[in-house]
Amino acid sequence: MFPRILERSSTMSDYMFMLDSHLTADQSRVAAEVQAKAVEQGLNLFLSGGAMRDMLGGFPIRDLDFTVEGNAIKFAKLLAAKGEAEILSTDDHKKSAELLFSNGVTVEIGMARTERYGKPGARPVVAPATMHEDLRGRDFTINAMALSLHKASRGLLLDPTNGQADLERKEMRTVHNYAFYDDPLRLLRLLRFKTRLNFAIEERTQMQYANAREAEMETKIPVEGLNLELRKIADEPDPGELLRVLEEEKLAHLFSSALAGTKLNLPTFQRLHKARQMVPSGSEFTAQNLGLFLNVLVEKLNPKEKAALIKRLELTKAELAQWQKLDANAKKLEKELKAPKLNRASAVYRFLKAQPGELMLYLLLRSQQRLVVDRIKNYFTKYIPIALEVTDRDLLATGIEPGPKFAKAKEDYINGRLDGRIKKPIPPEPPPTPPQSTGGFARRSPAATPAPAPTTTTPSKPV
Ligand code: CTP
Repeated sequence: MFPRILERSSTMSDYMFMLDSHLTADQSRVAAEVQAKAVEQGLNLFLSGGAMRDMLGGFPIRDLDFTVEGNAIKFAKLLAAKGEAEILSTDDHKKSAELLFSNGVTVEIGMARTERYGKPGARPVVAPATMHEDLRGRDFTINAMALSLHKASRGLLLDPTNGQADLERKEMRTVHNYAFYDDPLRLLRLLRFKTRLNFAIEERTQMQYANAREAEMETKIPVEGLNLELRKIADEPDPGELLRVLEEEKLAHLFSSALAGTKLNLPTFQRLHKARQMVPSGSEFTAQNLGLFLNVLVEKLNPKEKAALIKRLELTKAELAQWQKLDANAKKLEKELKAPKLNRASAVYRFLKAQPGELMLYLLLRSQQRLVVDRIKNYFTKYIPIALEVTDRDLLATGIEPGPKFAKAKEDYINGRLDGRIKKPIPPEPPPTPPQSTGGFARRSPAATPAPAPTTTTPSKPV
């Protein structure tokens, strides 16, 4: 089969449509802003990497990954200059920057580049390149696709290694034979994506992995790479399962020699995963995962092992605070959650809606207070689903007019539903189906054909 080097066809606008329907409202706003700035600067802009994989695979888009053919750091600074985004980090070597927009959307902007590796795990020599050349140097085919957002070629898919077919087959395949030798961190990335997406590893990639392990390439992963990867593991939907896989593959010790057997604390990670699964899809729930992840990860380590791991991770001030203050903040929330004034469903809903997600998960995991655990469980399994059920149409049907007071009216309506003061509206009866002729040759009218299922699905947002 020939790889699809450049695909221009009647499906061109389909990718833009797919993108639109996949982004959250906040991500859409940010994507529009980034595109407008690229037009203003005359830069070729592409959606790339993980964002493309997630969009085409029907997974929720976690971060917006963009690549520009040009100076990415300068571009990121221009985006931040308006004050609606802050630069979280820049990589002057790889010429990329990470931005956090004020609506909570994270964006990665990289320069289209080639990376030439002298030695495994060594710093590559980076040079500006075209988007197409850049894709050919990436790790796995499912991560090596891009969508042009440039005015003249908007909606054009670049898929030089046929990543779309691998996505459909649910297979991980390296882009080239030296992927693991060039950058051994990809050994860990392979297992992370495989675990997250539940994909198989293609045969040749399995052999390349085995060869790289035989040559002990994992020992060449630099500490910064391991630190980055551990943060990525913390953000996975099921970090415990990934740690189990890493231990099985004899790789978990790379993070700390103490992390093995019962010290890996897998049962607690399993309970954390169960708690996360309570969060209904479609809710606006967010959590800062790193602090809670570290809290569970180091629980079984002795003080010396714990200190060594934390020191090696080179946590930023904010990350350190996230981890260190977790216990105290959760204790405070536990106390507040016992308050008698929270005796109505609407009061619990309003109160918990404003609380940090990681504290609620922490309490589900560790609180011994029945009342506290029940209130959080009810919030996730009963109250959020009721609130999500309420549509603007329900409100308009009650005679409430659109306008500035609409949001407040909706809140009151949700409170009423939560406390049982307002009953769930009964959906109108469907119109009666016309009687069908029983004899002779019956043709099914096209209108009666069920609508085709959407081509993409958006599973629950990882928390
Ligand atoms: N990449 C690579 N080799 C690496 C790291 C990254 O080839 N060692 C490429 C991949 O194409 C990846 C992109 O750079 O898709 C962006 O990297 P990153 O943000 O780390 O990964 P994502 O694919 O966006 O994954 P996630 O969903 O975990 O954010």
